[in-house]
Amino acid sequence: FLYHLGLGDDKVKQGKRLRPFMTLLCCSGTGTDWRKALPAAAAIELIHNFSLIHDDIEDNGKIRRGKDSVWIKWGLAQGLNAGDAMFVSAFDVIQQLESETTVGIAMNASKLLAKTCGKLTEGQYLDIDFEKRKKASVNEYLTMIEGKTAALISCCTKMGALIGGLSEDDQEIYFQFGRSLGIAFQIYDDWLGVWGEEEIMGKTSTGDILEKKKTLPIILGIENSERFSREMQAPVVDPLKVSKLANWLSEDGIEQLTIDAFTQWTD
Ligand code: IPE
Ligand code: IPE
Ligand code: MG
Ligand code: MG
Repeated sequence: FLYHLGLGDDKVKQGKRLRPFMTLLCCSGTGTDWRKALPAAAAIELIHNFSLIHDDIEDNGKIRRGKDSVWIKWGLAQGLNAGDAMFVSAFDVIQQLESETTVGIAMNASKLLAKTCGKLTEGQYLDIDFEKRKKASVNEYLTMIEGKTAALISCCTKMGALIGGLSEDDQEIYFQFGRSLGIAFQIYDDWLGVWGEEEIMGKTSTGDILEKKKTLPIILGIENSERFSREMQAPVVDPLKVSKLANWLSEDGIEQLTIDAFTQWTD
């Protein structure tokens, strides 16, 4: 746990903690003391980290936060175990909401978290399923990222509103805000997945093309760039060609389309 969370000997290689921060901020935004939301914020960060441990196994991701991913360090079987342990501890810690708020709020928060995990897993299922397909539509892509990424970020914002005691209608407004932000966040992550600096990201920037992920730049490239599309139809992509393919995507206007898309979702 400590190694993956960056809480071991080297406390520098940590995640951004964006999701728990959103939960605390949204709770505070309702006029409620953000400290009440701490068990939920911790639980959400644990779920996020469980999903990353399993995601790296699923995506053949060897580096996470600038160091070996958990399954590279301890093997696939223990990687699954570490993820499972993190998953269950999230549901353990969220129960502490009972003493911070009310039994009703704590129960609804657990339900929201469980429902979110279901959506996240569905999104991960689609993400992997799309790898073996020649193409996917932008609408299918949106359904996929709404599950794998926006579900958890919209859970963060809604969770803050729920703990703040807002009505269901108002919680829905926070949910929609988190959903748009989550979609923009994943499109930006997809941009990083082609054009990002590995040093800064702490993960590889060639994996999406090599694994034939149907990320937004890759989908748009298959639709709009004949030379890129031709290379993506090959049974395997040559690792030496990845940077050339990324250049083609930029030259053929796909990078701009990707930037336009994530800008649009944050407007
Ligand atoms: C990575 O999320 C996974 C995605 C949903 C794109 P983050 O970029 O928030 O990961 P950390 O926690 O900061 O490492
Ligand atoms: C992000 O998946 C969503 C989850 C981990 C649930 P990605 O596979 O797109 O994210 P990175 O690029 O590995 O962080
Ligand atoms: Mg993935
Ligand atoms: Mg991944």
